[in-house]
Amino acid sequence: MKLAPSLLAADFGRLRDEAREVEPLASFFHLDVMDGHFVPNLTFGPPVANALRPGLSRPFDIHLMIDHPRTYAPQFHVRPGDIITFHVEAADPPEETMAAIRRMGMGVGISLKPGTALERLYPYLDRVDLVLVMSVEPGFGGQAFRPEAVERVRTLRREIADRPVEISIDGGIDASNVRSVVEAGAEIVVAGSAIFRAKDRLAAMRALLEAA
Ligand code: DX5
Ligand code: ZN
Repeated sequence: MKLAPSLLAADFGRLRDEAREVEPLASFFHLDVMDGHFVPNLTFGPPVANALRPGLSRPFDIHLMIDHPRTYAPQFHVRPGDIITFHVEAADPPEETMAAIRRMGMGVGISLKPGTALERLYPYLDRVDLVLVMSVEPGFGGQAFRPEAVERVRTLRREIADRPVEISIDGGIDASNVRSVVEAGAEIVVAGSAIFRAKDRLAAMRALLEAA
C-alpha cells in the first residue's frame, strides 16, 4: 500500500515544511483543490500547488473538486509521475478533461462522490490510471469514514480486472479501517487528519502502514 498524506489537514501557513516532514513515508502528496462550486469549500489552486513544488521530491496527486477540470488542469506545472484526478460529476465532459491531462503527460485519475453509481466510471476504465473512491462527501477533511466504501472498492477491483488501473481511497481513513480498504483492493490510501492531527506524524504514518 502507498500512503498519500492529504495536505488539506496541514497548516497552510507552513505547507512546504509540513510536506517535508511527512515525505519520508509518503508515496505521493495529495492536494485537494476546491472551487466553492463543485463542493462548498475553497482551498487553493495552481499558483499555490506550483509554488509548493521546489524542494519536494514526491509526485503530486492532485484531486480536483472543481466544476471545470479541463480548464484548470493545464495550469498545474507537472513532473513525470504526477497524477491529476477529476470528478466524473464535474461540468466538463470527461473525454475532454482526460485528453487535456494526457496532453500534459500526466497520469489520469477519475473520482466519484459516495452517492454516484460506480457504473458511471466503467466507460472510462480503459483510459485512466487511477480511480479515487471517496469514502466521505468531498469538501472537508476530518469526516467519518463511510463503511459502504469498502464494498465499492471491492466491486471496482473486480470490474477493473487486469487493466493497469490503481484504486485509491480518500476520506476518514485511520488505523481502524485502513486494513479493510486495502484488503478490498485499494493500493493508494489518502489520509489527512490521521496524519496531520497526530503529534508525531511519521509515527502515525507508520501505524497506518503497519495496520494495513
Ligand atoms: C475531502 C478530501 C480529502 C480529505 C481527507 O474532500 O478529498 O482528501 O483531505 O481528509 P481526512 O483524512 O481527514 O478525511
Ligand atoms: Zn482528496
